[in-house]
Formats: sequence, structure tokens, C-alpha cells
Amino acid sequence: MELHPALGNLAGLVGTWRGRGHGDYPSIEAFSYLEEVTFGHVGKPFLAYTQKTRGAETNAPLHAESGFIRPGADGHAEWVIAQPTGIVEVLVAERELDFYSASITLSPTAKSVTRVRRALVLDGDTLSYEVHMAAVDEPMQWHLSARLHRDT
Ligand code: HEM
Repeated sequence: MELHPALGNLAGLVGTWRGRGHGDYPSIEAFSYLEEVTFGHVGKPFLAYTQKTRGAETNAPLHAESGFIRPGADGHAEWVIAQPTGIVEVLVAERELDFYSASITLSPTAKSVTRVRRALVLDGDTLSYEVHMAAVDEPMQWHLSARLHRDT
């Protein structure tokens, strides 16, 4: 199926990506994880996003999330993400694939997250990202880094 031409640079994300990452935050223990991400398309001007992770040592399921990414105005891509932890993010790319939260909504029992940055760097079949967040009364700081490779 042909990619929708309005996808622009988002077209480079299509596929299934696997790799590993690590994370930390002042309130938790540092951890390493294995990750699988898929950006799928149905010929329309959005990509469906699914992500799941497991512990690098334990192999136990860790974080997972899903959503949609779409071209926005003036090349500023938009990304909506729902997390099983009750956190819902709407992000807008300031440039390229560097996304900042425009709004975050929390379910009644979710932990407090007030700001998120997801900075993705796409280099051919390698996708790296960092996640920074302001959460649980901590200021904006690093939570995650990962490097994924596209499965061919
Ligand atoms: C690859 C994706 C991610 C992984 C593997 C991951 C992993 C973890 C782990 C292992 C913890 C500590 C244990 C726990 O409380 O469950 C944690 C805590 C947390 N994560 Fe993540 N996380 C991911 C993505 C995110 C994202 C995208 C956000 C928010 C936008 C987020 C927000 C939080 C918060 C708020 C906590 C709780 C901190 C606390 O309790 O003090 N995480 N994460």
C-alpha cells in the first residue's frame, strides 16, 4: 500500500523497530530494557504507533503504550499517546522529530507528569530517542534513552 504523501518525513518511521534502552529518575532505581516499536500505516495521513518493553535482565513486561502520529501545520508533526499508567500525552514537534508535550491528561490514579519531551533521531534504519519528563514533583530531566534498529 502506498504511503500517504502528506506524511512527509514521518514516512521514514514506518516499520518495526527493536533494540534496547536504559532509564532512571531520582525517585526510582536505574533500569535497562528491551523494546519493540511499530509505526504502521493504512494509506491515510497518520501512522499507528505501538510500543512494548520488557526488563533486559528479568524479561518481565515493563512499560507499554500506543497512539498515533500525524503531520500537523507547517511541518510540525503531532503525536497522541496513551499509557496503561493513566497518562495521556499530546505532543507537537518543534522541529524534525523533537516532540514537546502540548498537553498531558492524567487519570484519577495516575502518577503526576506535567511535562514531557520525546526527542527522536532517525538515521536510516537506526532510530534513537531520549525522553525527558517533569514528574512526581521533580523538575524536567532525563528518564530514558534507547537505540532501535528497523527489522527488514
Ligand atoms: C520505554 C518506556 C518506559 C520504560 C521502560 C519505563 C520504565 C519505568 C520504570 C522501570 C519505572 C519504575 C518502576 C515503576 O514505577 O513502575 C518507571 C517509573 C515512572 N515512569 Fe517510566 N518508563 C517508560 C516510559 C515512561 C514515560 C513515557 C513516562 C511519562 C511520560 C513515564 C513516567 C514514569 C513515572 C511518572 C514513573 C514513576 C516515578 C516514581 O514513582 O517516582 N515513563 N518507569
